[in-house]
Amino acid sequence: MEGAPVKTRCPILKMTLTGSLVLIVIQTASIFYYWERLDKQTDLILWVNPPDYLRQHDAYHLNFDHCKVNRCLLTYNKELFSEARAVIFNGHVLGYKQTSQVRHKDQLWVWWSNAPPSNYFQNGDRWTYPPYREGFNLTMTYHHGSDIIMPFGAITVSDVTQPLDWFAVADKKYKDAVFIETNSCFARSERGEYIETLKLYINIEIFHANDCHDSRKVWHCASRHYSDACYDIINEYKFYLAFEDALCEDYVTDQFFKHYNYNVIIVTRTGNVNNSTRKILKDATYINADDFRSAHELGEYLQELGRDMKRYANILETKSRTKSVPFSSTYQNALCDLCAHVRKVPKIRHDVIVTKYDNIRHYFNEDNFCKYPSDLKPPVTKPMNKTTKTTSTKTLIY
Ligand SMILES: *[C@@H]1O[C@H](CO)[C@@H](O)[C@H](O)[C@H]1NC(C)=O
Ligand SMILES: *[C@@H]1O[C@H](CO)[C@@H](O)[C@H](O)[C@H]1NC(C)=O
Ligand SMILES: *[C@@H]1O[C@H](CO)[C@@H](O)[C@H](O)[C@H]1NC(C)=O
Ligand SMILES: *[C@@H]1O[C@H](CO)[C@@H](O)[C@H](O)[C@H]1NC(C)=O
Repeated sequence: MEGAPVKTRCPILKMTLTGSLVLIVIQTASIFYYWERLDKQTDLILWVNPPDYLRQHDAYHLNFDHCKVNRCLLTYNKELFSEARAVIFNGHVLGYKQTSQVRHKDQLWVWWSNAPPSNYFQNGDRWTYPPYREGFNLTMTYHHGSDIIMPFGAITVSDVTQPLDWFAVADKKYKDAVFIETNSCFARSERGEYIETLKLYINIEIFHANDCHDSRKVWHCASRHYSDACYDIINEYKFYLAFEDALCEDYVTDQFFKHYNYNVIIVTRTGNVNNSTRKILKDATYINADDFRSAHELGEYLQELGRDMKRYANILETKSRTKSVPFSSTYQNALCDLCAHVRKVPKIRHDVIVTKYDNIRHYFNEDNFCKYPSDLKPPVTKPMNKTTKTTSTKTLIY
């Protein structure tokens, strides 16, 4: 009977005791967890210079625990450089700082980038010199030709549309289009010029998250790679212009994936190099600017569609079968692929060479991936009237 009174008379003491016990068990378990992992020849993977947006993202704390091949450990601690089995470099921003490190002969260097090859020189050309130029064994980018593919996102499809009064959703909208410029100020796609032409047909609001246009509207919502409630204003618009800063194969960025789940129709413009946009977005419902010969033709189409709320609402309804998955899930998949890749390379047998990149500068020659815009031709027809003027039968309800 000794135990029972303690249970009833002093529940707090019991809870404290149990709590401490649980804590001790957890601590011990976690120590064993790391011991065990390091004992079992786990491969250490060092990310030397992860980009700021990743540091600010929850995905930064992801690791290999949920991977099928999980004998890897991710670290951002540069002190562990010589211990690392694989080292990830944010390739095109490499400077002199990272070069002094000693590379052991089994170490794999991984070129990571989420920038298109046409932007690789924006941060200088250090990466085109030794030891980087011929130092890379693996590539990890959004491009399908990379050893580890890390797309900006993915679209999933379900069987059913979302049960919503889509006409009401559409009919409430009183703004035409919005564009949020989050990355480079200088865009090789000349999207600024393209948008200027579209403005002859529809109203476009432009926000800037960078500081290169100080006189314009600033995008204040969250940090770069988060969508919080502040982003809900996207729902007020009929179209979101997900125009990329460069026209390169497979280069469909978070401009598309991050804004896809709002009740808005996304308009892409990626150059559709080698038909890649269609492959990547095959399940998505969107408007592809590359289907139109010029901004004028697209402008006319958007103007027309923006006036036809029934047709517009039908597109939204079709789109509601699809969803853009969170970035952390595509990122997690890429990490798992990386671990699997690294584990596949035997350490002792040096006849097994995985180096494909004798000269990374040649490999990432922009002409192999990117093109210049060809849709900025002069007008083929005279601009028509803007949509909002003719659809303003509704009073503003916001
Ligand atoms: C482009 O891709 C789409 C979808 O994957 C396909 O239906 C079409 O045939 C492709 N066109 C060319 C020219 O490859
Ligand atoms: C990785 O690349 C380095 C530098 O080119 C090379 O010496 C090494 O053999 C490569 N490792 C493998 C396993 O291919
Ligand atoms: C398109 O695909 C071809 C064949 O795979 C390839 O040679 C070319 O570099 C790709 N990119 C461009 C921009 O044409
Ligand atoms: C544009 O608006 C003007 C004035 O409201 C009107 O006379 C003209 O027919 C409109 N043109 C088109 C193409 O809708």
